Amino acid sequence: MPNWYKRGFAAMLAMGDGEQHALYGKRKQALFADLQGTVVEIGPGTGLNLLYLPTDIHWIGVEPNAHLHKYIRAKASGKKRSIEIHAATLEALALADASVDAVISTLVLCSVADPAATLGEIRRVLKPGGRFFFIEHVIAPEGSFLRGLQRLVRPAWRLVADGCRPDRDTAKALREAGFSDVQMESFNLPIPNIVRPHIAGVAVV
Ligand SMILES: C[S@@+](CC[C@H](N)C(=O)[O-])C[C@H]1O[C@@H](n2cnc3c(N)ncnc32)[C@H](O)[C@@H]1O
Repeated sequence: MPNWYKRGFAAMLAMGDGEQHALYGKRKQALFADLQGTVVEIGPGTGLNLLYLPTDIHWIGVEPNAHLHKYIRAKASGKKRSIEIHAATLEALALADASVDAVISTLVLCSVADPAATLGEIRRVLKPGGRFFFIEHVIAPEGSFLRGLQRLVRPAWRLVADGCRPDRDTAKALREAGFSDVQMESFNLPIPNIVRPHIAGVAVV
């Protein structure tokens, strides 16, 4: 996508912070409460999740859209946080094997080019027993009207939503990614939305 698009998408994400907080804040707070050590966040966007993370972790944000970095820095400023921000994808960053305690992702696996490769990379960088925490929207149930609609609008949706696929089967990709345990629950946002249902959970290496 061209630079003007990336800048515009960053500004649009920043405008949506309040709504995102209202929709996901409580769930994120509960999911991220006991994070420790070195935590990699893929696609942190504006850095909104920093609001829900313990302050004594070392946070590595892997955000390829550099126009978002100023929003991340603003969220971290004034707080005693240890953070690094990288303008890369997780694959391109090539962190060392078994080097991080946790990876988190919220609404990112719908946009990555190759979910299996990204999940493989997440497993590779996690220490033994390390955990991957996620909140993602996923494809609607088989046979539903919504599933057909998600397929229909996918090309246009990808264009307006920075590569997001509304019909991505991320739950299946997670189950097939080779984690020793995957726990997830399904939920819907309390608003009409084409990107539903959602899943939230944790996968253990
Ligand atoms: C819909 S936004 C979600 C932002 C944030 N995680 C949230 O929950 O508000 C998707 C983010 O993923 C990032 N992204 C897309 N592909 C990526 C990849 N391969 N690796 C890391 N981040 C990626 C985008 O730049 C964008 O910031």
